[in-house]
Amino acid sequence: MSWKASYQAKLLTAEEAVKHIPSDSRVVLGHAIAEPMALVEAMVNNKEQYHNVEIVHMVAMGKGAYTGPEMAGHFRHNALFVGGSTREAVSSGRADYTPCFFTEVPKLFKDGILPVDVALVHLSRPDENGYCSFGVSVDYSKPAAESARIVIAEVNDRMPRTMGDSFIHVSDIDYIVETSYELVELQPPRIGDVEKAIGENCAKLVEDGATLQLGIGAIPDAVLLFLKDKKDLGIHSEMFSDGVVELVEAGVINNSKKTLHPGKMVVTFLMGTRRLYDFIDNNPDVEFYSVDYVNNPYVIMKNDGMVSINSCIQVDLMGQVVSETIGLKQFSGVGGQVDYVRGSSLSKGGKSIIAMPSTASKGTVSRIVPLITEGSAVTTSRNDVHYVVTEYGIADLKGKTLRQRAEALIHIAHPDFREELWHAFNNRF
Ligand code: COA
Repeated sequence: MSWKASYQAKLLTAEEAVKHIPSDSRVVLGHAIAEPMALVEAMVNNKEQYHNVEIVHMVAMGKGAYTGPEMAGHFRHNALFVGGSTREAVSSGRADYTPCFFTEVPKLFKDGILPVDVALVHLSRPDENGYCSFGVSVDYSKPAAESARIVIAEVNDRMPRTMGDSFIHVSDIDYIVETSYELVELQPPRIGDVEKAIGENCAKLVEDGATLQLGIGAIPDAVLLFLKDKKDLGIHSEMFSDGVVELVEAGVINNSKKTLHPGKMVVTFLMGTRRLYDFIDNNPDVEFYSVDYVNNPYVIMKNDGMVSINSCIQVDLMGQVVSETIGLKQFSGVGGQVDYVRGSSLSKGGKSIIAMPSTASKGTVSRIVPLITEGSAVTTSRNDVHYVVTEYGIADLKGKTLRQRAEALIHIAHPDFREELWHAFNNRF
């Protein structure tokens, strides 16, 4: 049978397709912007048919309706990262959180640690050879589909066709639902004076020819504002958003000095606006690979001059970095932070940066603290940490004693909190 005939034979409505999800199964949802919204909605509407279905995914961009109290017994969410629509369910015990590095998620699926029964994925239309692209999210979405017993795909004409190792053939999909709707867009964040000052400090650490990993949010976007005078920058990043497109158009990012995949931007997923989605559509300059490749520290390290920039919630005076919990509350997840901290630290001339405002909660608490809040999880260990940056400056902690680290961190704390930090310092040293 030709792939076109096979494609036609697999076409169902979303309501028909979700009837193939068995009870007592594990369902992995396509990640972030590539959450298959029509399939998820049909699955939730069909809840009475299922009991004990585990829903696994990371950054949730949909409504997270399967976490509602009325879903008890039908669905239970296992979060590998906690986001706005799933945070309350995890905090109140209706959903679970599994700690893991982003780079190891495909291994969890492929090695049968978390065997995948059903992958619900969101793809581009097939090309002339019958290959659909995983579009904005290759990350764990492709490995999940490769490991699943049943693959149900939403094929959306608004999903960009991305390049790299980002394809699945129609013959490897069990059921197909055609959709046509605009992808979720993430608008650029508001960048205030604090973020600008942090961005300017981070930019001082970026040399011409560096390869960058940038997280999401106001701080990475603020850093990009201060890179306009740099030359020959490259991208090897878990993700990036709209700010990068401007630097590509300005010729600042040209990937010419990259020592791995020269000339190409390498990424595993993206979140941004339609401008970004159009930029990556059929663009051979941007290569997508699964996250077990892109975020593998031994792959990251092959980029000489690798600079990673990520954010956090708290840093203690030893340099322990808390990025995913506020006390006992799981606020987000480790994501790729440690993958990049380690990959950058192994890279020749590499630097990892943890950048954060010096305070939180409208200036009422310091993010630099004598001791981390009880119940918090350390995301980046004191052995891994390198630079910590706030709006007040840069603390270089690598190779520094505990005493030197504490001094460097107090110097970049908010002035309102320095006195109590010095008090803690004097009691300790
Ligand atoms: N004490 C109490 N509350 C705190 C706090 C602290 N030390 N630090 C932050 N908060 C609160 C903030 O006040 C804010 O609450 P509000 O929205 O009610 O004001 C909330 O937590 C979020 O903080 P903020 O710093 O604004 O979040 P952010 O959107 O910039 O994200 C991280 C910061 C650390 C949560 C985010 O970068 C993350 O999840 N990192 C880990 C994963 C990672 O690095 N992945 C790699 C790149 S994608």
